[in-house]
Amino acid sequence: MCGIVGYIGEKQAYPILINGLYRLEYRGYDSAGITLVNETIKSYKQKGKVSVLEDFVSGKDIKGHVGIAHTRWATHGEPNNVNAHPHLSNSEKLAIVHNGIIENYDTLKKELINRGYTFHSETDTEVLINLIEDIKTKEKVDLIEAVRIALQSVIGAYAIVIASEEYPDMLIAARKGSPLVVGVGKENDFYLASDATPIIQYTDEVVYLEDEEIAILKKGEILQIKNIKNKTINPYVQKLSISLDALEKQGYEHFMLKEIYEQVNSIKDSMRGRLNPENWNIMLGGIVDYELRLMNAKRLIIVACGTSFHAGLVGEYLFEELARIPVEVEYASEFRYRKPILTEDDTVIAISQSGETADTLAAIQIAKEKGAKVLGICNVVGSSISRETHAGVFTHAGPEIGVASTKAFTAQVTVLTLMALRIAKMKGSIIASHYQQIVHELYEIPNKIEEALKTDKLIVEISEKFKNAHNFLYLGRGINFPVALEGALKLKEISYIHAEGYPAAEMKHGPIALIDENMPTVVISTNKTIYDKVMSNIQEVKARKGVIIAIVSSGDNQISESADYVIEVPHTQEILDPLVNTIPLQLLSYHIAVMRGCDVDRPRNLAKSVTVE
Ligand code: AGP
Repeated sequence: MCGIVGYIGEKQAYPILINGLYRLEYRGYDSAGITLVNETIKSYKQKGKVSVLEDFVSGKDIKGHVGIAHTRWATHGEPNNVNAHPHLSNSEKLAIVHNGIIENYDTLKKELINRGYTFHSETDTEVLINLIEDIKTKEKVDLIEAVRIALQSVIGAYAIVIASEEYPDMLIAARKGSPLVVGVGKENDFYLASDATPIIQYTDEVVYLEDEEIAILKKGEILQIKNIKNKTINPYVQKLSISLDALEKQGYEHFMLKEIYEQVNSIKDSMRGRLNPENWNIMLGGIVDYELRLMNAKRLIIVACGTSFHAGLVGEYLFEELARIPVEVEYASEFRYRKPILTEDDTVIAISQSGETADTLAAIQIAKEKGAKVLGICNVVGSSISRETHAGVFTHAGPEIGVASTKAFTAQVTVLTLMALRIAKMKGSIIASHYQQIVHELYEIPNKIEEALKTDKLIVEISEKFKNAHNFLYLGRGINFPVALEGALKLKEISYIHAEGYPAAEMKHGPIALIDENMPTVVISTNKTIYDKVMSNIQEVKARKGVIIAIVSSGDNQISESADYVIEVPHTQEILDPLVNTIPLQLLSYHIAVMRGCDVDRPRNLAKSVTVE
């Protein structure tokens, strides 16, 4: 989950590379580096964020029309200047940047050491560039062929770009498992990046490399692509749909806050052209060929990680309640190693914002190997998961830059709601009046979120009170239980406060022992059907001097009496609660993290898409 950038053309490469690294910094930010080719190879790399590298190279020779760059999320070897990328071959005539993991690097390294190679870093990447150099020398082949041969003996995931002193007007790129996009420039030049965000300001024409494809980029020549079996591939050039504007903060202090406020529109966008307010019909073109299969499904299996897993849990309530289809929700990382029992009758739904999460990708491959059909719910167009699945629905939430997922979560829940309602209507498992009630309310959700965002000021005051808390509990029942899990995850990942989400009734089976005057407990209390149950759970906490922050429906007058802090959100259909109730939890985690001086958009130890297992 590193970020890679490359450029070859007539422009000065350095500004393109350094800006590209800033765009990709959300993918990893523990060290960064650049290599420029100007007759000779010059490399600069530093531990720390891209800004540290930029300071380090100021005043140095950064000329060159060809270059590669990298921002790192360490897997092999701790974050330091030596393990930072780019890595050079022993002759220092070849340089490489890499995103992914070479699983058999140790075996390859031992063979190379026996052949006299020496290694400076602990990385798998340095092994690959020396393997390429060794094959080039030993087999007396050109660099392209050496790369192709080397990649045949590599096990693992890679997106790589290689620059060389011998071929100063060429870059070679390849991928397997990790994402890599080629930007076809307007001036006979080429851009390379882990995703399109560093490229969009230069060109909207891109080629998403497929697994085991090698791209050869030569100055003033057309793009060549072949696979590692030496078969020539015709480049499939696509037009980018994202705007540069969407990549800027637009006056917000952080991308996360901007993305929280964008949910009014991102949910509209995820419903656009799918929920028709004229006749309230739902149309999901991306899975139309699989609707009958979903209708007759004996069960559904949802696989995902992190926040997407929590969206999957909300999906379980939606499909079971509305479409009456049993659902199993699986952590992809567990699913892939648990020898799951699957047949060709099974339908799996894989949820991923980035579309690049390695565990989810692997779960998809296992499901496909067992003959199951896999539908994807993704946010990034052109991502690996969107191409690996049989069909799917894009969430259209726009680029999500903040590492903590916010608008992607509510867009995923919106798409799951549309899918469950569509299948429920086709199956007749929902009466027409109830269907009408929910679709009308769903169409109103963006306005309800606009209302919920007005609690921001109050949440700043509440955050002030709890910014120094050491622990938090989040409680929810029914469809609000996954929302409690999501609220806890948000606080954990950006404020580093330990937090747990729990089904409220589960408290008395253990966690209630944690309750005292120092344990703030957030209780999502908008449920209508089990309101009294939630009420008694709150009493149980109050009885142990716990401090209650209650999320209630506006106009609530009971729970508000018992809670210490009350955040009112607009009333909605209980089945749609997660879309509204998540907002104050996102804001609470955001403000507490800001007050603790945390780097909200780049929380420690995390990265936006986890492309290694
Ligand atoms: C959520 O805020 C985190 N960034 C993380 O848990 C994330 O949801 C998880 O890594 C899954 O990512 P995906 O949706 O891109 O697959």
